[in-house]
Amino acid sequence: MNDFVFQNPVKLIFGKDQMKRLPGELKVFGDKVLVVYGGGSIKANGIYDEVMNSLNDAGMEVYELSGVEPNPRVSTAEKGASICKEKDIDVILAVGGGSVIDCTKLIASAAKYDGDAWDLVTKKTVAKDAIPFGTILTLAATGSEMNAGSVITNEETQEKFGWGGPLNFPKFSILDPTNTMTVPENHTVYGIVDMMSHIFEQYFHSAKNTPVQDEMCEGVLRAIIETAPKLLENLESYDHRETILYAGTMGLNGFLGMGNAGDWASHGIEHAISAVYDIPHAGGLAILFPHWMRHNLHVDPERFARLAINVFHVDPQGKTTEDIANEGIEALRKFWTELGAPEKLSYYQIDESKLELMAEKAVVKGPVGNFNPLSKDAVLSILKASL
Ligand code: NZQ
Ligand code: ZN
Repeated sequence: MNDFVFQNPVKLIFGKDQMKRLPGELKVFGDKVLVVYGGGSIKANGIYDEVMNSLNDAGMEVYELSGVEPNPRVSTAEKGASICKEKDIDVILAVGGGSVIDCTKLIASAAKYDGDAWDLVTKKTVAKDAIPFGTILTLAATGSEMNAGSVITNEETQEKFGWGGPLNFPKFSILDPTNTMTVPENHTVYGIVDMMSHIFEQYFHSAKNTPVQDEMCEGVLRAIIETAPKLLENLESYDHRETILYAGTMGLNGFLGMGNAGDWASHGIEHAISAVYDIPHAGGLAILFPHWMRHNLHVDPERFARLAINVFHVDPQGKTTEDIANEGIEALRKFWTELGAPEKLSYYQIDESKLELMAEKAVVKGPVGNFNPLSKDAVLSILKASL
C-alpha cells in the first residue's frame, strides 16, 4: 500500500424513518436555511412538501434555490452564493442527486469568497471558509453525499472540472431508500453504472499488497451486479433500493481506495465529453469504460483476469490470462447493455467532429489517469473506438 491519511467526518443517517431527524441536524448550525434542489422531481414525489413542513414546524427561516441542472453550472452556484450573502444564511440543505449536492458544495464555499466561484473550481484559490451544509440524497450514484468531491461545469468555456477540499464534506447526509423509489429506470441504470465505475477506478491501481481493498471492491461489485437486475424488475423494491443506495455511498466515500491512487482516466475523459455535449455522466462512462479496459489490458493482464474470475465468474479453465481478461470485459459490456446503458457515442448523436477537442480537454492538466497515464493520442483512440 501507499502511505495514507484517511479522514471522513460525514455523519451518515441511513434508513426508513430518518427524515424526522432533519430539523435537529440543521438547527445545530442556526435558523436561516437555504434549501437547494433540482428541476422539480422533489415536488412531484412529495419530498419537497415533507422537507418544507418539517422546517416550518421547526420555526426555521427558509430560502430556496431551485433549478440546479444535471451537470451543475457555475452560474447556478453563483446565484446560490449571492442568496447566502444577501440573507446571511446559516446552513444549506441540498435535496437531490449528485448534481444538487455538488452545486451546494460550491455555493457553501463561494458564499465565503469575494471572487468568482470558478476560481475555487480551477484551484486558482483554496476555500478558507464555508457555510455548513447537509444533504438529503434522492438518487444513488455519485457518493457525493459522503465525499469531498464536487464536479462543476462552466457553460461558457465548455469546461467541466472536479475540485475538492475538507470544507466540501457534508455535515450530515440523510439516506432514506424510500426517497430513491421514484428515480426513473434510465437514471437508476446510470446510477448503477456510475457506482460500478467508481469501484473500477479504484480497483485499477498499481500499489502493491492491497488484498483487503481488492476484496472489498470485488465484494461491492458482486452485490451490485446481483441486485441491479432485480431492482430494474421492481423499481419500488425497498430492499433493492436500500442495497444500491448503500453501495453507491460505499463506492466513493474513500473506504475502498485507501492506500492507492486509483486510475480515474475514464472519469477525466467522460468529463471532457459531458463538458462539450452535456450528456449524463454515467451514459458516457458506460460507453467509455470497456474501451478503456481493452486499451489498458496489457498493463496488468492478471488484474483484469482477476476481475473477470472474481466478479464476472469467468471460468479460467484452459484459457490464457488475456483470454480470461477479455471475457471479463465482454461480460461487463453485456451486463451494462442488458441493463439498458448506451454502448456507443452515436447514441447521443456524437460523431467524430469534436473528438480532437474532447481529447485535448481530457489532457489539459497533463496525461490523464494513474494506472497508465494516457496521452492525447491514447485518449483519441479510446474515443474513436467508442463512436
Ligand atoms: O433535477 P431533478 O428534477 O431533481 O431530477 C433529477 C435529474 O433529472 C433526477 N432525480 C433525482 N432524484 C430523483 C430524480 N427523479 C425522480 N426521483 C428522484 N428521487 O435524476 C436526474 C439526474 O440527477 P443528477 O443529480 O444529475 O444525477 P447524479 O446523482 O448521477 O449526479 C450527476 C453529477 O454528479 C457528478 C457528475 O459529473 C454529474 O455532474 N459526479 C460527482 C461526483 C462526486 N461529487 O463525487 C463523482 C461522480 O463521478 C460524478 O462525476
Ligand atoms: Zn462518476
